[in-house]
Amino acid sequence: DKLRLDPPEFTVKNYACQRRTPLKHNNTHLTHALELLAESAAFGENEGRSVAFTRAASVLKTLPRSVQRIEELRGLPCLGEHSLRVIKEILEYGASQEVESTRQSEQYQAMKALTGIFGVGVKTADRWYREGVRRPSDLMDSEQKLNQAQQAGLQHYKDLNTCVSKAEADAIGVIVDQAVQAVLPGAQITLTGGFRRGKESGHDVDFLITHPEEGKEEGLMPKVVNWLDTQGLLLYQKTTRNSYLESKDGPARPPSNMDRFERCFSIFKLESQSCSPPEREKSHQWKAVRVDLVVSPFSQFAFAVLGWTGSKLFERDLRRYAGQVKNMSLNSHSLFDSHQRCFLRATSEEEIFSLLGLEYIPACDRNA
Ligand code: GTP
Ligand code: MN
Ligand code: MN
Repeated sequence: DKLRLDPPEFTVKNYACQRRTPLKHNNTHLTHALELLAESAAFGENEGRSVAFTRAASVLKTLPRSVQRIEELRGLPCLGEHSLRVIKEILEYGASQEVESTRQSEQYQAMKALTGIFGVGVKTADRWYREGVRRPSDLMDSEQKLNQAQQAGLQHYKDLNTCVSKAEADAIGVIVDQAVQAVLPGAQITLTGGFRRGKESGHDVDFLITHPEEGKEEGLMPKVVNWLDTQGLLLYQKTTRNSYLESKDGPARPPSNMDRFERCFSIFKLESQSCSPPEREKSHQWKAVRVDLVVSPFSQFAFAVLGWTGSKLFERDLRRYAGQVKNMSLNSHSLFDSHQRCFLRATSEEEIFSLLGLEYIPACDRNA
């Protein structure tokens, strides 16, 4: 028929790292629905299904205008039968029954609330759910054993589920820089994560720390954390040591895609910035804010910035593209060419994209 002969409405590349995904797009009613299904699949520990919905949403984020008819999606990658069915229903009826019933379900709501506690993953939340726990408050007077992270998460539940603003992220940046300069002058901090991609709010603040003289950064994290702690700025922190082993041929490949940097998961006590006096009296004068700190050797800095800027799907596709298309292996430390059997050095993100044969995508367009 005639419709089949028309050229596709849109063309979209397969991998998220091959396309530009701005923060603001034209299909939020569709992407929110698909992302809720992705979240629900993750709660059910169905990662494959979760990633499939996330990919479908991500493709819609790259479209230059809002989708009106399902036919316009012909030829687009990553849109499976299930995602298409949900999209079609929303386009025709304004909502999807599956999405709305998932949103209303006791299990989804409980899992959302419980995984919203810092330190609680899907496995723990699911076990609690099966034992009858529904809300964070159910944990206060229960027998459930909580580890230190979870105790802090429960204690600061409200603050940690309030978005962090860019202004708050910048205020934390000033503090982190102070701490870093105090213990290692000349060290540099870089805001990564969602804020580097241009987000106006986030669930935490991510920083990467390095020093232009290789080796100076060793053992830096405990000193920074200690400085912050002494100033009374930390409500919680867990530091993990760098377990990355250097071999004579270059950095050894870590066994998984988890990286091996010195890293600190923390909760900052951020003094209120500019609340009006009456507002200050109502509540406490500080806010608990999740902060991630990572220390990278200077030689790996470009890979670390690229790896910690996200989005998660963008990172996933960068690695997948490197492996499937280029026979290379990318992580937050290095790029390994499996064919030439050697590490490829790079000192900027631009260089890494170029080594991968990819057009450079600036951070603001990595919101896949
Ligand atoms: P919000 O914080 O929700 O606003 O979004 P975000 O994109 O900043 O998410 P998040 O802080 O969770 O992660 C920031 C980036 O760090 C993402 O690109 C993640 O892929 C990356 N990241 C998080 N944990 C790890 C890890 O253990 N290893 C590596 N290599 N990257 C990680
Ligand atoms: Mn973040
Ligand atoms: Mn983070």
